[in-house]
Amino acid sequence: MLSFSDVRGIATTLATRAGSKLLAEAGDLVAATDSKRYHHNPYPVLERMRAKGPVYKGLSGIYALTSHSDCSQALKHPQMKVRPLPGKRDMFMTQTNALEGSFVLMDAPDHTRLRRVTAPAFRPKMMRQLRGKIEATTHRLLDQLGSEFDMMTDFAGPLPITVISDLLGIPDADTARFARYGMVIAEALDGLSTPAKVREYNAAYADIEQLFTRLMAERRTDPGDDVISVLVTAEAEEKVTTDELMTTCMLLLLAGFETTVNMIGNATVLFSEHPDQWDLLKAQPDLAPDAVEEVLRYESPVPVLTRFAHERVELGGGVLPAGVAVLFMIGAANRDPAVFPEPHRFDITRTRTVEHLAFGGGVHYCLGAPLSRLEGEIAFRAMAERFATIKLTGEPVRRLSSTIRGFSTIPVRV
Ligand code: HEM
Repeated sequence: MLSFSDVRGIATTLATRAGSKLLAEAGDLVAATDSKRYHHNPYPVLERMRAKGPVYKGLSGIYALTSHSDCSQALKHPQMKVRPLPGKRDMFMTQTNALEGSFVLMDAPDHTRLRRVTAPAFRPKMMRQLRGKIEATTHRLLDQLGSEFDMMTDFAGPLPITVISDLLGIPDADTARFARYGMVIAEALDGLSTPAKVREYNAAYADIEQLFTRLMAERRTDPGDDVISVLVTAEAEEKVTTDELMTTCMLLLLAGFETTVNMIGNATVLFSEHPDQWDLLKAQPDLAPDAVEEVLRYESPVPVLTRFAHERVELGGGVLPAGVAVLFMIGAANRDPAVFPEPHRFDITRTRTVEHLAFGGGVHYCLGAPLSRLEGEIAFRAMAERFATIKLTGEPVRRLSSTIRGFSTIPVRV
């Protein structure tokens, strides 16, 4: 049975899509980013946007930033917030956003408090402890592969989900269920347009919530060294509420899983399209950390970030009036010729003078960046050492998502 809010959610998703189509037909480049053609190849639209100046204003009043320097400057600006001004509508929020209530969608002081409680799980010492486990998981998964398989379901998906399950202390028996429902919930970040999808989402959300509730209860009486144990200790010290604990777990599941999966998938397609770069990595597996950075720059798994200007903000390339909604076009900033010479060339030996913005910037800079860099380095090195070749055996299926850039299926022969 669908609730009134579910039905309103479907109506909002459909209305937003229809509105975008009309605006795009009228020449609005922000609305043009909500289309199949854009998801397949966003770069022509992003270049047209860049050509109109670093601060683009769409017909709907939404602003979009395309330059690397304006994006970095605005992400660090204290008055660029994830929440709109009081009383203003949050036009970026979908009805089924499992990240709602989590600290990635909070501003200070709550964001600061919750990030501080969670941050110890990602310290260098923890990363050093995780390395051996991630290497073992990577090789176990690769051992099970034949010469032809689907990269997404057989390797790119299982590796990060196993790592995040370990981090959260999810028992092995629950991992498959956790992965399946995690995918349903992640898909809903773009909004849901049919009753069947809403029902599937509601069931998945309830199930994951139940799993986290059980794990929290277990860790309260029998703490371990996982993140849930860290969080329930903070709850006992009254630094976080039980609701915040739940939304933080949901954030770690989604952020830790969806993004890294697509980094590995995007790398697979890029290496199959650029055999010279694959040969280079095979000859020098120590280039794996550089390959991670170039894959993240060239095809960022999180292609757009959103903020609201709480006061007039002056940037190098223009002005954002107080109250406006702003899109950070990460795909454009990461191919900005002002900071990345020959930006449309995929080159794992590229000299890096500035960091790409695939992990965002400012106070919300990705907390899991050290973990995903570690996973990427281990995965790319192992792939280079073990795969003789990397060839597509069919057309990869692109995900038609505005929030995540990647593929659902990548058939390969190695
Ligand atoms: C290639 C992999 C990844 C990419 C590209 C990525 C990207 C991002 C980006 C762009 C943000 C900033 C969002 C914003 O400013 O609105 C972010 C935030 C975050 N990421 Fe990641 N992420 C990745 C992996 C991970 C992993 C593995 C984890 C944890 C297990 C993680 C946890 C988080 C958390 C908790 C935040 C919120 C930080 C805050 O609001 O203070 N991410 N990520």
